[in-house]
Amino acid sequence: MSSADFYREIILDYYRNPRNFGRMEKFDIDARDTNPLCGDEIDMQIRVGEGQKIEEIKFTGKGCAISQASASMLTELAKGKELKWVRSLTKEDIFKMLGNPDLGPSRVKCALLGMKVLKVGVYGYLGGHYEDTDMPNSP
Ligand code: FES
Repeated sequence: MSSADFYREIILDYYRNPRNFGRMEKFDIDARDTNPLCGDEIDMQIRVGEGQKIEEIKFTGKGCAISQASASMLTELAKGKELKWVRSLTKEDIFKMLGNPDLGPSRVKCALLGMKVLKVGVYGYLGGHYEDTDMPNSP
């Protein structure tokens, strides 16, 4: 199995069995966004713990395998991290997490949707505003 196949299998597994999928009753951050190209959406909720750490994080959404798998993997990566880590997160980190797949521009939006939702939520909580410069072809 090539490494591309290996990562494709992982993405499909996260799509079929999304980790951290669902809604929380108690949360501090709730953010959602839509991929304007297809209307697919992701909603993320975060409970913030001591030291401004991401104590719990869950997501819901509907969309393609890449968008849902990427959001699910990102929740696993984010759990336990300090909120400020979210500020340093880049699109390259997301591509690396996904195994650097060969994505066209429209699929890049799919892959980055979860990160955008996470950043919008965390920046808002910290009193800022996320400028969507990481997303290609942003209006
Ligand atoms: Fe809609 Fe990928 S096709 S997020």
